[in-house]
Amino acid sequence: MSTGFSLFVIIGTLGSLIVFALLLFFNRKVKNPGQTTGHVYDGIEEYDNPMPAWWFWGFVLSIIFALGYLIYFPGLGNFPGIGGWTSEQRLADQQQAAEERYGPIFAQYRQVPVEELAQNTAAMRMGQRLYATNCAQCHGSAGTGGNGFPNLTDAEWTWGSSPEQVTVTIAQGRRAIMPAWSGTLDEYGIRDVTEYLLRLSGRDHISNQADAGQAHFQQLCAACHGADGSGQPMLGAPDLTNDIWLYGGSREQIADVLRNGRNGVMPPFADRLGEDRIHILNAYVRSLAQ
Ligand code: HEC
Ligand code: HEC
Repeated sequence: MSTGFSLFVIIGTLGSLIVFALLLFFNRKVKNPGQTTGHVYDGIEEYDNPMPAWWFWGFVLSIIFALGYLIYFPGLGNFPGIGGWTSEQRLADQQQAAEERYGPIFAQYRQVPVEELAQNTAAMRMGQRLYATNCAQCHGSAGTGGNGFPNLTDAEWTWGSSPEQVTVTIAQGRRAIMPAWSGTLDEYGIRDVTEYLLRLSGRDHISNQADAGQAHFQQLCAACHGADGSGQPMLGAPDLTNDIWLYGGSREQIADVLRNGRNGVMPPFADRLGEDRIHILNAYVRSLAQ
C-alpha cells in the first residue's frame, strides 16, 4: 500500500472511532430526566431517558476491543500489528495442517491401482475437489472441455488412455504440434483434404475432392495421424476417423486447422500437486470417461 493510502486508511479508521467515542460521551447524560423531550409523533411522546447501561457499556467495550484488535492485528494501513499475524503465514499453516491430515490418506490411495480407485466414492470426492481447483478452468467443471480443450468424458484420448500415459499427461504436461499447411497446400488442396477428412469420419462429403485429398493425406499427414487416420498417441495426433473434434468439426473449422496448424498445451502439474494427488486425478479423469 502506498504511504498516502496507508495514511488515508489510518486516519479514516481512527477518526471514525474517535467520532463514535465523542458521540457517546456527549450523549451520556440527559437534560431533563423523567420528563418528555417535547417530541411528539402521532400522539406518542418521547421521554428524555438515558441510554440503557448495557447498551452504553457495550458500545464502550466494542470501541476498546476495536483499538486492541487494531494494535494486535494488521488493520491500520501499513502498520503490521504487534502480533506478527500475516495472511501468508496463516495460509502456510493451513496448507501444512491439510498436508498432515490428507497426506497419509493420499499416500494410501496411491497403493490402489487407478482402475480400482476410480470406483472408490470417497477417493473420487477428493478427486473432484482437486479437479475443481486445478483443472476445471480449462476442461470445464463437468470435464466436457471446449474449443481447444479436450473433452475428458468422451471416448477419445489423443495422448493415450492407459494409466501410465495419463500420468505423464498430467505430471509432465503435453505440447501438441500440428503444423500449418497453408504454405504447402493451396486453397484447393486444403479444401480437398477437408473433404477427405469428412469422408474418414463418415460424414457427407464431395467425393471427387475427397479422392484428391486422400493423395495429399498419405503424403503429408499419414506420418503423424497414421495411414488410416486413426491417430498416434505418442505425438498427440488425434484420431481423425471418429468424428470427435478438438477444434470443431464444421468444414470451415477443419479447414482453418489445416491452414494455420494448432499447438495445444496441457501444463505440467508434477511440481504443484505431487505424485499422490496426480494418482487420484488420474483415477478421477478415468471415472469421468466411464
Ligand atoms: C507432425 C505431426 C503432424 C502432421 C504431419 C499432421 N498433423 Fe494434424 N495434428 C497433429 C497434432 C499433434 C494435432 C493435435 C493438435 C492440438 O491438439 O493442438 C493435430 C490435429 C489435427 C486436426 C484437428 C483435430 C481435431 O480434433 O480438431 C486435424 C483436422 C488434423 N490434425 C489434420 C491433419 C492433416 C489433414 C494433416 C496433413 C495435411 C496433418 N494433420 C498433419 C499432428 C500432425
Ligand atoms: C491451462 C489449461 C489447462 C489446465 C489447467 C489443465 N489442462 Fe489438461 N489439457 C489442456 C489442453 C489444451 C490439452 C490438450 C493438449 C493438446 O492439444 O493435445 C489438455 C489435455 C489433457 C489430457 C489429455 C486428453 C487426451 O485426449 O489425451 C488430460 C488427461 C488432461 N488434460 C487432464 C488434466 C487434468 C487432470 C488437469 C488438472 C490437474 C488439467 N488437465 C489441467 C489444458 C489444460
